Amino acid sequence: MLKKIVFPVAGVGTRFLPATKEVPKEILPIIDKPLIQYAVEEAAQSGFADFIFITALGKEALERHFAPNPELDNFLKRHRKSHLLDGLHEFYQKNFTYIRQEQALGFGHAISLAQGAVGNEAFAISLPDDLILAEKPVMAQLRAVYEKYRCPVVAFMEVPRHDIPRYGIGAGKFIADKVFEIEQLVEKPVAADAPSNFAVIGRYILTPDIFPLLKNTTHGAGAEIQLTDAIVALMKKRRVLGYFFSGQRFDAGTTLGYIETLIHVALQRPDTRAFTLRLLRQLAADEKI
Ligand code: UTP
Repeated sequence: MLKKIVFPVAGVGTRFLPATKEVPKEILPIIDKPLIQYAVEEAAQSGFADFIFITALGKEALERHFAPNPELDNFLKRHRKSHLLDGLHEFYQKNFTYIRQEQALGFGHAISLAQGAVGNEAFAISLPDDLILAEKPVMAQLRAVYEKYRCPVVAFMEVPRHDIPRYGIGAGKFIADKVFEIEQLVEKPVAADAPSNFAVIGRYILTPDIFPLLKNTTHGAGAEIQLTDAIVALMKKRRVLGYFFSGQRFDAGTTLGYIETLIHVALQRPDTRAFTLRLLRQLAADEKI
């Protein structure tokens, strides 16, 4: 049974400084909900029960966000506003584990720290920076592929050629609609050397044999320990699948992507849609801008 999911959230968040000097990037709100809560809700809706966070010094707000706050609860009860924490209460009883990454040695290193908590089971990884709006939660889509083929699955989407150097890029042979066996995988290639425009997005289901490979992986692109390098080693031992998910993905980990995410979420929510549409139309019509 696939029930464990790892959220690597120990990054420094340099692209959002000075905001992230004291506030973890994952707590930055998309309207009124922190980025991390979107990813955690998606995981809960996808059947995951054990939430493992790889966190860092200074990110305590993230832990507190998912813990009960009796004073706030009492205040809200007294003012008949308990509904304002709807969606959060369900997490108070869930199994949350926090593991400290003492040095930001990269995404791959962060994942390697989950080994003890994951044990000898398949597990998922979710990067909260990638906010994905989808009819069926994207982690549930990946779970279905994993349950059918019983091998590691990596989420993919096509990107424009000029964006290729920002992503892990894969290529391979299709074995079903939207599912391919990954034959090549490279981290952040220059566009001319890339095997395709199929980009890795931050959702994975992996098997525990990734852990020894992460330990053997020397520092890859950007001098950080890269998960991609370990997946390439895993591909030599077993079949690893790529899956083109259904849904709209936004990169809330960059400032421009953050603006785009806000606007799209605002357009999706019934309580903010009409206002946002009106505002965008007004701005577009206003020639002074
Ligand atoms: P990013 O590359 O987005 O790094 O990490 P970052 O620190 O979050 O942001 P910038 O680039 O400085 O603005 C991808 C994911 O891996 C995690 C991050 O928290 C993010 O979810 N990560 C990265 C770690 O957990 N530890 C690390 O050492 C590096």
